[in-house]
Amino acid sequence: MAGKILVVGSLHLDVIVNSSRLPQPDETLLGDKVSYRFGGKGGNQALAAAKISVQVLMAGRIGKDNFGKEIYDTLANQNINLDRLKMVDEPSGMSVALIGSDGIYSAVVVSGVNQTIDLSDIPVPNDLSVLILQNEINSDANFEIVKKVPKSTYVIFNAAPALTPNKDFFERIDLLIVNQLEAKMLLNMESDIFDDLEALKKLQNLGPKEVIITLGADGYTGISRDGEIFSKPGIKVAVLSTHGAGDSFVGTLAAFICKGEHISVAAQYAQASSALHIKTPIDQREKIKQVDIENMFLLNQ
Ligand code: RIB
Repeated sequence: MAGKILVVGSLHLDVIVNSSRLPQPDETLLGDKVSYRFGGKGGNQALAAAKISVQVLMAGRIGKDNFGKEIYDTLANQNINLDRLKMVDEPSGMSVALIGSDGIYSAVVVSGVNQTIDLSDIPVPNDLSVLILQNEINSDANFEIVKKVPKSTYVIFNAAPALTPNKDFFERIDLLIVNQLEAKMLLNMESDIFDDLEALKKLQNLGPKEVIITLGADGYTGISRDGEIFSKPGIKVAVLSTHGAGDSFVGTLAAFICKGEHISVAAQYAQASSALHIKTPIDQREKIKQVDIENMFLLNQ
């Protein structure tokens, strides 16, 4: 297998409610369906990366409760190294997501044990190719781990949710991935007009060497360390739910970078993976394989 990826991040049990539309403030709606699914941006990204032929290691925390057991069982069924997963006496992280019939969602996360992650005793392989981080664990832990990985490790930071950047942390980031809303928040942009190129350059000025902004149905745009701009329009698919699509993008992108692809090519695989994710029913998504992602990639050349 080509390369090793360490994912440090959040693990949640997601309570997903489908209804005809999202409720308004003060409104109670009758929903259509509820499902309990593995989640957390860290966990989702690890699962997405593990579909590709790379080694995936997961570092995180879960509680000794029913949610923790569900999360553990899902990870244990995948080809993911769990030596850095701790089970402790605190509540597991969880989220509630409401998904309307148009596939658009709103969610709230209760982080629980994810906020108490301590990475001081986590062993870091000296041949680590890629590290993936997000913003659902405490930022001190994220900062701690970037100081521990080898200089040769390519560090990907998915700033979701967007939080005030720390300059020293950002300067160790190789690739920052954000959506349009997160880009605006990081840059304190208030205007409704979003200039992709301006946002990419401003984000790169914060410290990360490369930046990708995902644009939902409009695709993505990115800037490489050499200043090359790369972008793709969205792949047209019937949307069942966009929940977790950003995580498929990040996990797949990391895996193809780990396999030695250029960032602009890895981003196309990532987009193919997200497109498959959003058009596939939630309970069928685990069946998406590397070959399906490669076929979707080829179809969109
Ligand atoms: O990106 C989707 C994820 O965000 C969900 O799985 C939820 O748990 C939240 O972390």
